[in-house]
Amino acid sequence: MRILVTGGAGFIGSHLVEKLLAAGHKVAILDDFNDFYDPQIKHANIAAIAKDVTVHHLDLRDSASVSPYSVPASNKARRLAAWSSNT
Ligand SMILES: NC(=O)c1ccc[n+]([C@@H]2O[C@H](COP(=O)([O-])OP(=O)(O)OC[C@H]3O[C@@H](n4cnc5c(N)ncnc54)[C@H](O)[C@@H]3O)[C@@H](O)[C@H]2O)c1
Repeated sequence: MRILVTGGAGFIGSHLVEKLLAAGHKVAILDDFNDFYDPQIKHANIAAIAKDVTVHHLDLRDSASVSPYSVPASNKARRLAAWSSNT
């Protein structure tokens, strides 16, 4: 199955992607690598699996850019992207 994981470079998302790959799925990540915390941590989260996934560096809120990667382009989507701000 092809599965899109939004927020897939994040803490939970990257672990989910690892599990999905191990289960034999084709996985794509959609993540904007925002600076809510150090984006290098997010790149490190997926460094070991980067060769096995397609990474779309996009903001979910940019619907025009995101729409080609949405369901049904993937069979399923797992949504873990989130953003919070203190401002
Ligand atoms: N970590 C926890 O203990 C916990 C507990 C309960 C709920 N949650 C929820 O689970 C989800 C994931 O948590 P996490 O700890 O993995 O957070 P995280 O911040 O590590 O991961 C979220 C990812 O989403 C990406 N993202 C945010 N906004 C985006 C946007 N507009 N477009 C594309 N990508 C975007 C971020 O760059 C980040 O990589 C969140 O909704 C969080 O509130 C987490």
